[in-house]
Amino acid sequence: MREAANPSDLLAWYDRHARSLPWRVSPADRKAGAIPEPYHVWLSEIMLQQTTVAAVKSYFERFTRRWPSVIALANAEDAEIMAEWAGLGYYARARNLLKCARVIRDDLAGAFPRTRDELIQLPGVGPYTAAAISAIAFDAPSTVVDGNVERVMARLHRIETPLPKAKPELTAFADTLTPLERPGDYAQAVMDLGATICTPRNPACGICPWQAPCKARAAGITNELPRKEPK
Ligand code: ADE
Repeated sequence: MREAANPSDLLAWYDRHARSLPWRVSPADRKAGAIPEPYHVWLSEIMLQQTTVAAVKSYFERFTRRWPSVIALANAEDAEIMAEWAGLGYYARARNLLKCARVIRDDLAGAFPRTRDELIQLPGVGPYTAAAISAIAFDAPSTVVDGNVERVMARLHRIETPLPKAKPELTAFADTLTPLERPGDYAQAVMDLGATICTPRNPACGICPWQAPCKARAAGITNELPRKEPK
């Protein structure tokens, strides 16, 4: 019988192939005790909500150069933030960014809350973003499910139910895999796997750390999953 997917195999792959991203602490640095700034994780996750990694990089770098802390951001003029955000689109994100920074400055003594339940109360922070911040910034074993993760789970477990109906099932599978060891690195590893190997078209199954347990690969239907409800 084929073995179930093992989070350790994915983490070993991530140790060698993690993308180097400006908001990220590398797996080696994290093992040496470095932790990402919650401010950086929050800012990057808000920017990445509707925008690609490639587009976000330079915005993230400009924002953090100009406003090195959440307090500095909270003290900015609204018009300065909106001007720096120009081009990223979905401007409600920028307005919520400022609201959130000011809540943290005025009501939370300048510190981000650590748990998903507290994070989700913040302006602009929904269930996905709260899970991502608690996992990546605070190493909480939160299950982080975005489109990449849905695709990986649908293929690994050969879920043929179409999206969006399959979402609860995919989340449940993702939950069973989330490890207690290195959950922050694990969350980013699944995202990287989905972005670089388990891609929507022509996935690079030959170099995938989860090729052996993948049920879609065994059935030869990787390209067909996840299925989508016709619009
Ligand atoms: N997409 C959303 N969040 C991400 C992250 N932290 N790293 C890479 N891609 C992402």
